[in-house]
Amino acid sequence: MSTLLLLPGDGIGPEVTAQSRRILDALALPGLEITEGAFGGASIDSHGVPLTDAVLDRALSSTAVLMGAVGGPKWADTAYDKRPEAGLLKLREAMAVYANLRPARCFAALASASTLKPEVIEGIDILFVRELVGGVYFGQPRGIETLPNGERRGFNTQSYTTHEIRRVATTAFELARARGGKVCSVEKANVMESGVLWREEVQKLRDESYADVALTHMYADNCAMQLVKAPKQFDIILTDNLFGDLLSDLAAMSTGSLGMLPSAALGEKCRPGLYEPIHGSAPDIAGQGVANPCASILSLAMALRHSLGAPEAADRLEAAVEAALDSGARTADLGGRLSTREMGDAILARLA
Ligand code: IPM
Ligand code: MG
Repeated sequence: MSTLLLLPGDGIGPEVTAQSRRILDALALPGLEITEGAFGGASIDSHGVPLTDAVLDRALSSTAVLMGAVGGPKWADTAYDKRPEAGLLKLREAMAVYANLRPARCFAALASASTLKPEVIEGIDILFVRELVGGVYFGQPRGIETLPNGERRGFNTQSYTTHEIRRVATTAFELARARGGKVCSVEKANVMESGVLWREEVQKLRDESYADVALTHMYADNCAMQLVKAPKQFDIILTDNLFGDLLSDLAAMSTGSLGMLPSAALGEKCRPGLYEPIHGSAPDIAGQGVANPCASILSLAMALRHSLGAPEAADRLEAAVEAALDSGARTADLGGRLSTREMGDAILARLA
């Protein structure tokens, strides 16, 4: 028996998650229980906090969690620690999902949807492994203080320990063995001590245990440039929480649309995984039924593969998404006119 907890959240989150729900119903996996919970702004509205203890407990006892999106202008003025995004960070931290897998693949049918030239992006298959529960997102001390001279000072701390670096690097090296065998580790060792340690520890781990994997190091600014100039050079990009946030958005967009990219956040093998589209709540189009559900559906595929013990269903689902795109199915972000539900229909129809 396994459980999948759906946390649709805010903005387009509920719309896209509804399509994943339809797919789940069609797959009808034996022994899978599906539940839903309030999260993000939706939970602030009904319970006063973005993540209640009850929902957190359910997440921790699930086999997998599929999130929609969080945040929106309605809660933008809420105190920092009560915002929808704070609920997401609390969930990631409590679930201890330190390795965030963000595959940036260019679907052949979408090569012309990119702002980059088709020949630059055709065949891109990059996997970001982003550290997700450390770094500047969580480092202490942090805050906003008033200085004696009346000026205000905002501060955060970027910090990584050996253990935090090695566990996420282990995930990257293990995954590299099953893919192209290359890891590019990205930091700013030229200006940050945490980057110096990152580089040293990743190299040490590779020399000790993963000599079969080709490891290179790159500064984050150069990586941003290379992702636009020659993205096909990359196989796995291993990086920290903040650089991973920035660089994965950059790569996602160059493969066609932010609306296509899924993610999986994994911790220790026996613990539940957290799956989310990498796009946000898109308040500008929320409620119109036009959002692209592919990132949610592909996140579901990752959940089927990595947590729910259904790799065949994951393969079928990914093939159905690709077949729908090949047949010309397009939501507005991909230059088409299909509604969220019609895109769901197009995928369902190919889920034989
Ligand atoms: C992401 C998002 C989140 C992040 C926000 C919503 C907190 O941008 O998952 O990429 O910064 O990690
Ligand atoms: Mg982001």
